[in-house]
Amino acid sequence: MKNGSSTTEASLVFGPATNVTVERENGLALSHFENRRDLNRADILAGWEAVLDGCTIDVALDALLGTGSSIVEISVFLTDLRKALVGGWIECRLEAGGHIVAVLQTAGRLHADIFSPMVTDKELRLSRFSSLRANDGVWIAENPRAGHILKIFDVHCVGVLASFSSPRAAGIGDNLIKLALAAGIVVDEEGADAERIPPVAYWEEHEAHLHQRSRIGRNLYSLGATFKWRGRTPSLPVVKSPDLDRMRISLPKAVPLPAITVSNALETRRSQRDHTGRELSLQDISDFLWHSARVIEFIPRDDVGGLYYDASRRPYPCGGAAYELEIYLTLDLPGVIETGVWWYDPAAHALELRSNAAHIVRKMQMTASNSAAGNPLPQAVISLTSRIGRLAWKYDGISYAVTLKHVGVLYQTFYLVGTALDLACCGLGAGNSALVNAATETDPDEEAPVGDFIIGGRLPAGAR
Ligand SMILES: Cc1cc2nc3c(=O)[nH]c(=O)nc-3n(C[C@H](O)[C@H](O)[C@H](O)COP(=O)(O)O)c2cc1C
Repeated sequence: MKNGSSTTEASLVFGPATNVTVERENGLALSHFENRRDLNRADILAGWEAVLDGCTIDVALDALLGTGSSIVEISVFLTDLRKALVGGWIECRLEAGGHIVAVLQTAGRLHADIFSPMVTDKELRLSRFSSLRANDGVWIAENPRAGHILKIFDVHCVGVLASFSSPRAAGIGDNLIKLALAAGIVVDEEGADAERIPPVAYWEEHEAHLHQRSRIGRNLYSLGATFKWRGRTPSLPVVKSPDLDRMRISLPKAVPLPAITVSNALETRRSQRDHTGRELSLQDISDFLWHSARVIEFIPRDDVGGLYYDASRRPYPCGGAAYELEIYLTLDLPGVIETGVWWYDPAAHALELRSNAAHIVRKMQMTASNSAAGNPLPQAVISLTSRIGRLAWKYDGISYAVTLKHVGVLYQTFYLVGTALDLACCGLGAGNSALVNAATETDPDEEAPVGDFIIGGRLPAGAR
């Protein structure tokens, strides 16, 4: 192919997720995930048989005309074809010189008709949401708001698409750009304007990608509990192994949680950022962690029952009972415990020292204080990291989204337990990942920092 576009021919083929069987009564039976369709209308079967071989739209129509189909039958066929394309049953393939150069896989309604020649004389440009990435030698272009995937096998096509980073007119018959327009990867000026005003403007590109990839619908990627790493790597342990070379402190036995009603805890819970009230005791820390996050019970793997990894039970709920969140506490409580960054071992109900460098502790406190409206340095900063591999071993597409949900679940558990224990609590929105990994001596790929929280002694009633 010379310039990546106008010399291509577009053909329609059944997609890889569509199973086609030829049935005895001269029909075709299609199945696509849980859906099934029987194509046995003899009058339009010739068109579908052509698609089975992979054909251009003209060839499919010729096949129908060859069997004497009427205009009504042809229109029924085209409607069916459009539905099949939108439903992801068939995909559109671009070929040049006998080679496949691009394939469009659809995830729902298309933005333009790919059965007709492209007629727009408007200038087109890449949507600000579009991404183009290389994956095993194949380029993938997509706009997450639409969900369609344009796979590109020819580097010249990548160049053509990339040239739409600034507005350009597309040539009539430019099949690649026709598909990119249909998939929302390139947009006209009106489309680009719509992306600059609310509600679309509220969406940032990375957030649109995470949102689309972690939900069903408008999503062609594998999603959910597929256990794709099972048999390839062992699942990560329920609880990290303690590091016996580090200082360790067993927390005192927790006292029962004061009996306040759920309604009382919910109604009186507040975010409190000023922790200059009484100093936290080791008993406070023990009670807080025990009632929110300890391991209550280990649940061994049970392959027969479908639990392919060891799990556990803790006070807060967790997808797959995976409990991938790790809890670190930066404690500045002289006379109570050595000042430093501690890991909470939820199985042993103990703390393990990760760093006692004064400058790290100070930075952790200052970052938290800045987040908490510049209040005095907190006594205890909690950092949550995610051993994302615990989730990714089981889940496709949703691990990061699920871990963020767990952060929310744990925040509320902290708030409610903190309220019952009369502690000051405040969730924080954005911590410093590089600092947390340095402070906890963890690898960012193994443990991604995902949540930040502060606790302290509560100010007397009536104070701020
Ligand atoms: C996920 C989350 C993030 C938060 N981030 C911050 C923050 O960065 N700084 C802060 O001062 N408060 C933060 N808060 C506390 C909220 O500001 C507080 O919950 C809200 O103002 C309602 O007040 P209340 O908790 O006293 O009912 C956060 C709370 C949550 C749940």
